[in-house]
Amino acid sequence: MASPVPVSPAVDPETCCLDSYRLAIATQISSSLDIPRNIAYEGVDYGKKGIDFTVAIPRFRLKEKPAALADKVISEFSPNSHLQSATRDGIFVHYVCHTQNLIQTALKQIYKLSKPTQSYPHGSYGYNNSGAGKQVIIEFSSPNIAKPFHAGHLRSTIIGTFLANLFEANGWKSIRFNYLGDWGKQYGLLAIGFQRYGSEESLAKDPILHLFEVYVRVNREIEKEEASNPDKFSPTNEEAKALFKKMEDNDKETLELWKRFRELSIVEYEKVYKRLNVRFDVYGGESLVKSDLMMDTLEKLKSKGLLTKKTAHESRVGAAAAEASTPASELDEGDDDNAADALALDLTQWKLGKPVVQKGDGTTIYILRDIAGARQRYQLYNFDKMIYVIGDQQDLHVSQFFKTLALMDEPFTDKLEHVNFGKIHGMSTRKGQVKFLSDILEASKEAMLEQMKKNEEKMKDVTDPEYTSDEVGMTCVKIQDMSAKRVHAYTFDLQRMTSFEGDTGAYLQYAHVRLCSVERKVALDGINPRDDPELIDTTLLTEPKVRELVFALASYPDVVKVAMKNYEPSTVVSYCFKISHLVSSAWETLIVRGQETELAQARLYVFRCTRFVLASAMRLLSLTPLTRM
Ligand code: ARG
Repeated sequence: MASPVPVSPAVDPETCCLDSYRLAIATQISSSLDIPRNIAYEGVDYGKKGIDFTVAIPRFRLKEKPAALADKVISEFSPNSHLQSATRDGIFVHYVCHTQNLIQTALKQIYKLSKPTQSYPHGSYGYNNSGAGKQVIIEFSSPNIAKPFHAGHLRSTIIGTFLANLFEANGWKSIRFNYLGDWGKQYGLLAIGFQRYGSEESLAKDPILHLFEVYVRVNREIEKEEASNPDKFSPTNEEAKALFKKMEDNDKETLELWKRFRELSIVEYEKVYKRLNVRFDVYGGESLVKSDLMMDTLEKLKSKGLLTKKTAHESRVGAAAAEASTPASELDEGDDDNAADALALDLTQWKLGKPVVQKGDGTTIYILRDIAGARQRYQLYNFDKMIYVIGDQQDLHVSQFFKTLALMDEPFTDKLEHVNFGKIHGMSTRKGQVKFLSDILEASKEAMLEQMKKNEEKMKDVTDPEYTSDEVGMTCVKIQDMSAKRVHAYTFDLQRMTSFEGDTGAYLQYAHVRLCSVERKVALDGINPRDDPELIDTTLLTEPKVRELVFALASYPDVVKVAMKNYEPSTVVSYCFKISHLVSSAWETLIVRGQETELAQARLYVFRCTRFVLASAMRLLSLTPLTRM
């Protein structure tokens, strides 16, 4: 038996029972090879097919030949309550956990830790405390008011929510931060548009749609003016610049109007976020970056010798580069208005170009708001980590502002991380290119409803098709998004993602529903789950399928830790499908109905524990596990 002294705080059999088997292996290796137990522990990896754990002897870099050492380990191995066998394969030693002990220990742990508590309404199985006392800001979603909520924002929303959940599962406190695009010349333009074409009534009814329409219309006006003027001069554009200048100079009246746009938009966003099971602790935004901090930032940059004046020509070139790195529609500040006398950061030494930070008329720019904004957040939250979930099209922008903060010797620069992701191609529905998030959700819901109608067998249990198709539709959108590694771009495919075939969200929800329905069905036969795991005879669970499934369930706490290292939602998605496939192949052998009571109870217990773990992994991905569909 492993000694109770932990080899590292991260090793905790109380929350991850597999740790106790790794400890048992480490104890044996440590004594046979005469190395510290923590070193031995580090060397215990998962094994391949049919083998629980494997130790590769060469990794300990000892003097003797690995094969000879492996022999020694094997000859000194003695089976115990935790370990059943050890076998040698060249320089590897393979271990198999004691099956009965594993099944009993793992299921009991899952069952107990899945119970709701005050702090964990869905139980805490899989969670660990490695981040206790630490605080992370996760900035994600960050749409731009009056502009389409595009695919990049959707991905940021999905991945960001996952990350916030993941950090919490690892014991951190996470602050969900939405950094709205709500400042810049565009908002001067929006205000002018609203003065000309706005309607209070439409604004109240659907602010996002109305502001978007106004914005499109006023932009068209500018295009027209520019086209009819030989110098491409647009009076409307000039007015917008002047108005934005007034906003930056704190003009009350203009700010009132803009504040209303912002507030009404947030109310609308919140409805959709709620539907998506997404929430925020803070609605920040570009407009909320303090101007004195921006001025201070400029001063600091100047004193560090990082600023340079840009000529009109240089600014134009710089703006083109900025546009290449960021979607132009979002940052239409790169135009060469006031180009002369613009202030730029000279990052050419680091191959990061010369981004403009302040225009000639003194108004601020996206990047300056990011630099000062990070400083502001550190002052306010004293975070231990801050993560920006932004698409890879803004990689250059993020490198620029991270680098600048480092050059400014800000104390928190090593706490910043950029979690990026590839593009979604072709996000369109039958009604055409999507503009608003709600369009995507509606389309997925419709597609799902259609699929469900095709599956009569699956439909017959559904009591609320509206709710169900909406939830499953969103599961499909999210699963499609999180299935591959973040960096991969993918093509949005409504048809494929809502299918019940293949590893889709619909399949996943169905796997969970089936686990719920087995409980409902056996209840009809009078078999209700026993609440005390001690009353379950796990020695009746002799099928290899059970062992395989239980080992996978027992590895969930490790999945939560691994995902924390790579920030990849796909790690958790793959795990969900692994569990789903394992149960789906277990249904034929692990029949519950019509079995003798003790056996039925034992099998029911396995399915119940499986449901707990699957639901927990799904929640980590921000999904709502359904009980019927
Ligand atoms: N609103 C920006 C856009 O839509 C995204 C903001 C990303 N976050 C940041 N700190 N720059 O492109």
